[in-house]
Amino acid sequence: MSYDAVYRASIADPNEFWLEASKAIDWETPPTAGLQDNNAAWFSDGTLNLCYNAVDRHVDAGRGADKALIYESPATGTSETFTFAQLQEEVARTAGMLANAGIRSGDRVIIYMPMIPQAIFGMLACARIGAVHSVVFGGFSATELAKRIDDCEPKAILTASCGIEAKKVLPYKPIIDEAIARASHVCSKVFIWQREQCDAEFTSDSDLNWRSALAQSEPAACVFVTSHHPLYILYTSGTTGKPKGVVRETGGYGVALAWSMPNIYGVQPGETYWAASDIGWVVGHSYIVYGPLINGNATVLFEGKPVGTPDAGIFWEIAAKHDVGVLFTAPTAIRAIRAADPTGTLLQKAAPRALRALFLAGERADPDTVEWIGEQLSKPVIDHWWQTELGWPALASCVGLGSEPAPIGAAGYPVPGFAFTILDGHGQAVSAETTGNLVIAKPLPPGSFRSLWNDADGFNGYFSAFDEFYSTGDAGLLGADGAYRVMGRTDDIINVAGHRLSTGQIEEVVAACECVIECAVIGGSDELKGEVPIVFYVAAPGKNQNANDEIVEAIRAGISPIAAPRDCVAIDALPKTRSGKILRNLLRDIANGEEIVIPQTIEDPSAIDSTAASYRAAVKR
Ligand code: COA
Ligand code: AMP
Repeated sequence: MSYDAVYRASIADPNEFWLEASKAIDWETPPTAGLQDNNAAWFSDGTLNLCYNAVDRHVDAGRGADKALIYESPATGTSETFTFAQLQEEVARTAGMLANAGIRSGDRVIIYMPMIPQAIFGMLACARIGAVHSVVFGGFSATELAKRIDDCEPKAILTASCGIEAKKVLPYKPIIDEAIARASHVCSKVFIWQREQCDAEFTSDSDLNWRSALAQSEPAACVFVTSHHPLYILYTSGTTGKPKGVVRETGGYGVALAWSMPNIYGVQPGETYWAASDIGWVVGHSYIVYGPLINGNATVLFEGKPVGTPDAGIFWEIAAKHDVGVLFTAPTAIRAIRAADPTGTLLQKAAPRALRALFLAGERADPDTVEWIGEQLSKPVIDHWWQTELGWPALASCVGLGSEPAPIGAAGYPVPGFAFTILDGHGQAVSAETTGNLVIAKPLPPGSFRSLWNDADGFNGYFSAFDEFYSTGDAGLLGADGAYRVMGRTDDIINVAGHRLSTGQIEEVVAACECVIECAVIGGSDELKGEVPIVFYVAAPGKNQNANDEIVEAIRAGISPIAAPRDCVAIDALPKTRSGKILRNLLRDIANGEEIVIPQTIEDPSAIDSTAASYRAAVKR
């Protein structure tokens, strides 16, 4: 069936459409219905286990000797492959280790890990016994980790002695210790995987040697759970300092991912698929771990950077080495590769012949970059759009359904199951080619979130601005060609190198610095990372010296080095409206060198000139 026919079928009868799609999953009890109510309660009477679907069923089907997990770590010079049978053995024993430690179905386990196979074993081991994993990106600070410990109250933490960032060895144990000390919740089991690059010191009774514990564990069997059982909690940035714990339910997610692999990405079982992301993000959950494995693909786990480990040819070399059919990365990675290898010499040298398509997501794909990589690869380059909340792509060109790539600059066409509309601020639908709020009609398809952990109000907030619609928080427009363009966020979230960050959260950290009276953080345009944080602040009297360093350090230590600002600009006063609201758009225009439109509501117009002058003096570009 063509994309159009499939899309229409998915919207005309979602219940029937997804019930049919659910057959791609091996259920213990197959569901008798797709949708139960309008709140995306999918497959309510089904029971299943996603680890079984990702691992065991392929072994049972005689594919135990096929490649399942390919670990490539240019950072450490390691390359290792696990077949489905080996993956089953590793995961089952890791699950046994968790079960021995008293972890039961429904218990939470935080995974704070670098990109090593044990991280994936840990995730799948949780899924195997019904424990709920919450992976925390290894670049987050102790403060951020502590917030997540207190929110999801894990019974155990899985971690490693260190992460490796390009050539830097980053010990994790001090971060874990500080996070545990900061958190109110007591977590009495911390399993530590010792890596040869760094030995973690065991300092308390709760520190456990992962290898020794594994040696004393027997493989654990799959525990079957209901479709609504939470598979994981993944925290993402909201507009405040409190992260939102997106809860992903098991059944709908399994069905959505199983459907997406052949239909969106056009990938068949047995092929190698590579999402060059991090397991700390939703892309990593869905397309490094669950999606490809459920579909019976070999998946690549890459511990390195697109450039510098050792050079800008690494993506293409790995793709060539493993016959990667489809590669998925963020536009930032391609921009970094282009800057280092502008003529594509390393790409041509590696010649990744099996590569059929490159998918991009996580941030706006600028046309220049898409055109460049398209010319270098001579293969389709496909932008697609999604969010942590939705769990899988919602706008894409469904290659597996025969769609041609959407025009450059467009994020794609609605994926079956997602009914998009563009609304103005009053909730009225706008005509084609008009920018407005990008919203999705209820019911959201399988795989989308149905709650936030401990935050019912936060969840309801997504549906409160426009009745019956899910607000994406993005602005967009529908082109006359039927493809959607996504213009950027309508809230205080920014996208730095494909990472979603809250300016409100960064402001909270900056405002707490002694050297700062008040501040505003905005996203400035950046050639490499798309957007970067820029801090405008008013210094406390006598505290101007070294204030920039203090602010940068506070953000790195309080949130993550990935949130470090490109510029810190001391100004005399923040431009505000007469009612005291900070004019962030004005600051954005100043930082981005845009034409400045003086708002009627401004309290002191002279603040504009002095702020712009301070910005120019501070950045001297
Ligand atoms: N653990 C610890 N620290 C981390 C980290 C991690 N997992 N990831 C990043 N950091 C640190 C970096 O070491 C760096 O620290 P430094 O300032 O002390 O050097 C800082 O955070 C910024 O890192 P990053 O944003 O990766 O910038 P970079 O300049 O090191 O690299 C790119 C630039 C373009 C190579 C990199 O941003 C990149 O690979 N981007 C693509 C990201 C991506 O795939 N996103 C998709 C998510 S779906
Ligand atoms: P995250 O939840 O971290 O995946 O971030 C989701 C946000 O990233 C979206 O709301 C968008 O703002 C942005 N985003 C993701 N994919 C794209 C894309 N293809 N084009 C433009 N923005 C994107």
